[in-house]
Amino acid sequence: MRKKIVAGNWKMNLLWDEALGLAQGVSEASTKVNNAELIVFPPFIFAPTIISKNPELNVGLQNFYPADKGAFTGEVSITQAKNIGAKYVLIGHSERRAIFNENEAFLKEKVNAALANDLTPVFCCGEPLEIREANEELNYVKQQLMDSLFHLSADDMAKCIVAYEPVWAIGTGKTASVEQAESMHKSIRSWIAEHYSKELSEEISILYGGSCNASNAKELFACENVDGGLIGGAALQLDAFISIAQSF
Ligand code: PGA
Repeated sequence: MRKKIVAGNWKMNLLWDEALGLAQGVSEASTKVNNAELIVFPPFIFAPTIISKNPELNVGLQNFYPADKGAFTGEVSITQAKNIGAKYVLIGHSERRAIFNENEAFLKEKVNAALANDLTPVFCCGEPLEIREANEELNYVKQQLMDSLFHLSADDMAKCIVAYEPVWAIGTGKTASVEQAESMHKSIRSWIAEHYSKELSEEISILYGGSCNASNAKELFACENVDGGLIGGAALQLDAFISIAQSF
C-alpha cells in the first residue's frame, strides 16, 4: 500500500514565533493523524530550530542549490540541507520555475543532488492555464516528467514523491475538479508504469496541490490515484491543515 502524505508548503510566509508555534502544533497533532504522514516545508531560516525542537516532525526544505559547497552567494547547499536534518526537498515547484527561471536541466540536477544526499525529492509538475485551455495538459506534464525525472534508475525513482499542481489552481481558490485531478494522476501513474514497471507505479505517492483545503480534500483524496496533498495557503492554519490530513 502506498504512503498517504499531506505536506504543508509554507512558502515565504510567517515570522519566527508563528512558524515555531505552527510547527509545534503540527508535531503534536500528528499523533492524532494515523493514516497519513505529515511533512512541513518551512522557510529555510526557521528549519534548523523547528527540527531541533520537534524531533518527530518530518521537515523538508523548499529550495536548495545542487552543489555541495562553493561560491554561490545566498544559496543553501544540498549537503547543508542534509546536515541540519531536513528529510525532503521540493523540486520543480511552479513558482521556482516561473519566478526563478529554474529550467528542466537544472531541475534534473536538483533531483540527482537530492537523491545523492539521501533526501526525498517531492517533484512538482503541472500545466499553466493556457495549456489546459488548449487541451495539451497531458503532453505538457508528461514532458516535465521526461525532462527532469524519468532519467532516474528504478531504484531512485522509487524514492521520489510526485506532486501534480496545476498552475491555474495554485493560490487562486480554483481547485481542479475530482475528474481533472484523477485523470492526471492516473496518467502520471501510467507513464511511470510505461517507463519503469506497473509494480513501481503502484508504489509511488502522487500528491495533488492547488487550493486544496479542508472542504475539498475529502473528495480529492477519495480518488484512487490521489495519495494526499501538497498544501499552500491552508497549511498556514493548524486546524485547516490537520483537518486536511484527517480527510482520508
Ligand atoms: P495553494 O498552494 O494550496 O495555496 O494553492 C499549493 C502549492 O503551491 O504548493
